[in-house]
Amino acid sequence: MYIDNKFIKKQFEKSMKDYDKNATVQDLMASKLVIELSKISTAFDNILELGSGTGLLTKRIAKNIKFNNYYANDLVEKSKLYVQKLVPSANFICGNALKIKSPRKVDLIVSNAMFQWFENLEKAIDLIKLNMTKDSILAFSTFGPDNFKELKELTGLTLKYRSEDDLRTILTNAGFEILYMESFYEELVFKTPLELLAHMKHTGVNSLSEKTWTVKKVKDFCDNFSKKFQKTQLTYSPIILIARKIK
Ligand SMILES: C[S@@+](CC[C@H](N)C(=O)[O-])C[C@H]1O[C@@H](n2cnc3c(N)ncnc32)[C@H](O)[C@@H]1O
Repeated sequence: MYIDNKFIKKQFEKSMKDYDKNATVQDLMASKLVIELSKISTAFDNILELGSGTGLLTKRIAKNIKFNNYYANDLVEKSKLYVQKLVPSANFICGNALKIKSPRKVDLIVSNAMFQWFENLEKAIDLIKLNMTKDSILAFSTFGPDNFKELKELTGLTLKYRSEDDLRTILTNAGFEILYMESFYEELVFKTPLELLAHMKHTGVNSLSEKTWTVKKVKDFCDNFSKKFQKTQLTYSPIILIARKIK
């Protein structure tokens, strides 16, 4: 699927006011990521967060990790307001995570539920790495190949979700040592397909199935979903990964 950053930005910007209430899986991922990171270290000098959004991860880092400088990045400018409420001293760098340059090299890069939006993860890791000092930590969460499998089955549309094996290979080839990796499933059940669509809209991922949702497209989606599946369920397959840059 072609990734249009302008469109992603628009969808996430629109979803921000409802995001925290609906992003229960992303919140769980942020929690697991910080619990595992804390076992490795609870103090860093410079931290860079990619795709900070409404600050679900920022909040947990601020509570559990010590740092001197916090840099946060997102495509959406409004993310700055959320981040600076949680970390008033944070520097916000707006733009594509692959095009920004951190003012100083960092010893921790964190990111929650965002790496799946990178079309070419190999290239993304190489670019992100440029902001890291040697021995620094990359701690992120993303989604595996079964993520939103219902939507893939129904519409054929999906992101290029990477398996645990793919991630291990990509990171090892890029000069990282894997310190922790975990995958799990979360299934959300909705009363109706329309409720499922609303959930996607409020978490910014409705761009995955259609660019414009006309009344007819919504009706067709709901009818087809009900015909194909007995249960209105959406499968999430998160992956938590922590790696150290060794080369
Ligand atoms: C699912 S949200 C996750 C937000 C937050 N990290 C959380 O834990 O809830 C993904 C975020 O990544 C941002 N994003 C997606 N692609 C990006 C890119 N290439 N560069 C910077 N931010 C990006 C979106 O704007 C959105 O805020």
